[in-house]
Parts: sequence; C-alpha cells; structure tokens
Amino acid sequence: MNEIKVGLLGFGTIGTGVAKLLATNADLIAAKVGAPVTLKKIADLDITTDRGISVPAGVLTTNADEVLTDPEISVVIELIGGYNPAKAFVLKAIENGKHVVTANKALLALHGAEIYAAAARKGVEVLFEAAVGGGIPVISALRGNMAANNFSTVFGILNGTCNYILTRMTKEGVDFADVLRNAQELGYAEADPTFDVEGVDTAHKLALLVSLCFGTRVNFDDIHTEGISSLSSVDIKFARDFGYKIKLLAIGKRDADGVEARVHPTMIPVSNPLADVDGVFNAIRFTGDFIGPVMFYGRGAGMDPTASAVAGDIIDIARNIMTGIGRRAAPLGYGDNAVVTLPIKPMGSIEGKYYLRFSAVDKPGVLAKISGVLGKYDISIESMVQSARMAGEEVPIVIMTHEAREEYVRKALDEIDTFDIITQKSRLIRIEDNLE
Ligand code: HSE
Repeated sequence: MNEIKVGLLGFGTIGTGVAKLLATNADLIAAKVGAPVTLKKIADLDITTDRGISVPAGVLTTNADEVLTDPEISVVIELIGGYNPAKAFVLKAIENGKHVVTANKALLALHGAEIYAAAARKGVEVLFEAAVGGGIPVISALRGNMAANNFSTVFGILNGTCNYILTRMTKEGVDFADVLRNAQELGYAEADPTFDVEGVDTAHKLALLVSLCFGTRVNFDDIHTEGISSLSSVDIKFARDFGYKIKLLAIGKRDADGVEARVHPTMIPVSNPLADVDGVFNAIRFTGDFIGPVMFYGRGAGMDPTASAVAGDIIDIARNIMTGIGRRAAPLGYGDNAVVTLPIKPMGSIEGKYYLRFSAVDKPGVLAKISGVLGKYDISIESMVQSARMAGEEVPIVIMTHEAREEYVRKALDEIDTFDIITQKSRLIRIEDNLE
C-alpha cells in the first residue's frame, strides 16, 4: 500500500484539529507509518464556515455516505459526538469493512457492546483514545504495555470543566454559580454545562475505563453519578481544615465481590498527587498487581491534545494496514469472548469514611441527639468541629466518621433531618484516604 486514506465525519473543533495535525505533521506521520496518511474526505452539515485551515477542493462534503462508502477510505474518524447519527454512521463504516477511530465516550459508554460485536464480525479496529483524558494516552497503555496486569483500582479526574471550577472555588473561596458563569464567559464551560457539571461526562469516561481495566461490560445506569453543582464553598473550606481537597473523582474498584463504579465529589488527602491536579488538567491513577501504582497527567480536552490522541489511533491502524493485519486486539484489549459481566455493587453496600455537615440550632443536647442516631446505626465518629456562633444563629456541625456502610449513613441522615433542631438538609461527602 503506498497511501493510507482516511475520512472524517464531523468538522467541529476536534475535527479541525485532526485535519490541521495531519497536514502539519504529514511528513513525520508518513515516516512513522511508512506511507503517507491522507485525509480524503471530510463530511459535515456545515461546510461553509471558515475553520482557519485550508482544505483542498473536493474534500468537503455534506454527504456522510461519500466517506462511508468510498472504497479507497480504510479508516473512518467519527467526531460528530452524541448518539444519532453517530451510532448509525459508525455501524455503517464497520459494515463496510472500515476501521473506526472515535472520541465519542457517550456513544461507547451506552452502545459499546453492539459496536464492538459488529467490529469483531468484520475484523476491524475500533480505537477511542481521545474518548478519555483528551491527549493522555491512557487507553493505549491499558490495551498495550500495561495489559499483563490485573488492576484493582482506577481513580480519575476526568472532566476539565469541573476541575477548573473546583480549583477556583478552592483557591478563591467563591461559589459554584459564580465560577461557572465566569467559566462560560471565558469559553471554558459549555453554554449547556449539564453533562460536565452533573458528572455525566465523567461517568461515560469511567464506564470505558472500568471495562478496559476489569474486562467487564458496564450497564451505564448502574454507575452512581453525582456532580458538583450542589457543592458549597463551606465544605471546601472544612475539607482543607481536615487536610483534604475535594475533587470530582471517578472511582473504579474490583475485588472478589464485584466492581465499584461511581462518580461523586470526593475528599482526598492533600498529600496525594491527585490533589495537585488543578485547573483544566486531567489525571488517572491505576493500581496493577505487577506495575503497582501508576499515574497519568495531562490535558484532558482541547483541540490540539485531543487531535493528538485521534491521530495516534490513526497511526496505529495505518501501521496494521501496512503490515497486512486487519486488527491486533479487540477494542477493550480482551479477546472478543473474554469480556464478562461483573456486578456493580449498589451504593448502599459501599464501606468508607464520610464527612457529614449538619446545620443545627445551637442549644444544649443537639450534639447528643445527632451522635445518638449515628451510634444507633453503628457509625463511629473520628473527629468533630463546631464553628463559633452568633447568638440565635444556626451553626454548622462537621463530623468525620470512621469506616461505615453507606446505607446506614444515609438512614442516619434521613432520621437526623427530621429533627426540628436541624435547619437545612444535612450534607454528606465521601472520603477516599487510600488511593491505591
Ligand atoms: N467537556 C470535557 C471536559 C472534555 O470538560 O473535560 C471532553 O470530554
């Protein structure tokens, strides 16, 4: 083969980045592949907006079929995002024997099994490095050089928007809504930030990481998902007083009883390297039985880093094509029949330490009532803080627990919240002391 031809679906920010990268580094890529990699067609509904790069005549089309049915195109890059029509296009590309590169975590988190099965039938690659951690090469590491490990945990800071907002809340003591508004004005947050701030984007990425780490299918709805929109700067300040930072953490764990997969604001010790991951940066930390703890850090979003990940996948496939290989490994890095379905543990069964913040009127007996309920549910107190009060005002009472079962913690809070001494719904934040 003297040229590898690829087609692109979706000429948005990332698509533009990929076109720019393939043109800018064309000689380098040709040297690494052993043949030029040419972008033959780009399909998008909008082919008139100036993206700031020059595209040769005849490359742009509004008809996706010109990419999906072109016999010269061997790799289809899907950068449309969302479920429809992305899913239909990906399946059609596979059906037509084309390898697929995508950044679409939402699509794979919900419809991955169907897409991987179609790819297995046709013997083509589906690569998705850009779906998790932008430019950070974490998926190729899991499928490749770390593949010999049994993984016990994965922890990730996977959403730049949330991490940017939390970093500013932590450093400036400002509220969520104010930072979000400012981030939108600066273009760091989407006009509709729901998927980002409510943890859905992080959960999509966690679904992929859990499948890759533990070789299991994940029912997306089984992932407990909480975002950062109800987080208060008061909790961030108390966390610091106790030696913690709050991060939106994706957590995957595996033991003999099954798998944990959850996304929620989490207190992590300030001494852990994940606590130093600030701003729009992402980080992912794994523990494998032979590699031990390993952490990846870098830019999790943005045109250039994400284009780097897409182009890396294209190079991988182009090298296969050059050596006459259809594909080297199934998308999750396990044989097609080796992926199992492990149960995801319900949140009620999770054991951990908790930060609890109660808002109460300040009068004799309040602490005794709260601690009495905690004791009834077998929840042991590790430490406690009550702030100074102004006469007649409510006071925050913060309790850090020892290890407790989540279903009992929730029952205790529900009971405590019925007391008339409680002035606001009590807050719970989970603590991860051990990130191994
Ligand atoms: N919206 C994501 C983020 C990037 O804020 O990190 C794309 O996955």
